[in-house]
Amino acid sequence: MDLLSLEEQSKGCESCPLAKQGRTQVVFGDGNPDADIMFIGEGPGFYEDKNGKPFVGAAGKLLTQLLESIGLKREDVYITNVVKCRPPQNRDPKPDEIDICTNRYLFSQIKLINPKVIATLGRFASSVILDMKDVSMGRVHGQKFIKDGSLVVPIYHPAAALHSRANLVPLTEDFKKLKAYVGENVKLQEKAQDTTGDITKDNLAQEQQIGMEPQVEQMGLF
Ligand code: URA
Repeated sequence: MDLLSLEEQSKGCESCPLAKQGRTQVVFGDGNPDADIMFIGEGPGFYEDKNGKPFVGAAGKLLTQLLESIGLKREDVYITNVVKCRPPQNRDPKPDEIDICTNRYLFSQIKLINPKVIATLGRFASSVILDMKDVSMGRVHGQKFIKDGSLVVPIYHPAAALHSRANLVPLTEDFKKLKAYVGENVKLQEKAQDTTGDITKDNLAQEQQIGMEPQVEQMGLF
């Protein structure tokens, strides 16, 4: 199945309780299906639910500015959320909603887009994607993790930088890192191809794990 067919399939989805809790429409995702960087937030808010696109409110405007600060446009990257329907009163999505939605849509989106870097926006998305409880954004932001063969970089949610301007500094720095990591990833792929003649997700993951920061390795996450 391609991304467009998956998006088509998601329209009118009634697989989880969020379908009947006031959502206007499914917010599948937006951007370049061949993107090097894929951003994953928590779930659509009020404006996203009305508009049908992720990150179109205040946090989205900041996300657009941060992209521009590294020479990218929204159309260059792919932006989506862990859950595709707005939870009532913007509450956190529940475990069953997350399970259903990620298994139906998000994990397939990741496979189809196959980005070089997945940037998880904030604690919620980072916990889901890294499959870790109690992620401390202060500790992990900007660092490289390997999860199921993908390079994952947790960064602060833009809303956190709107809430507290102090968070804008690490967020801006982490955007620069994302760009650098995309470049590194290309080199690693080339290297893997040179030595094995066969690029697999696993040897890419191994290469990346060697380069991981000690703090992350000590945490024994992968
Ligand atoms: N916050 C999110 O996590 N996702 C959106 O799409 C908008 C705001």
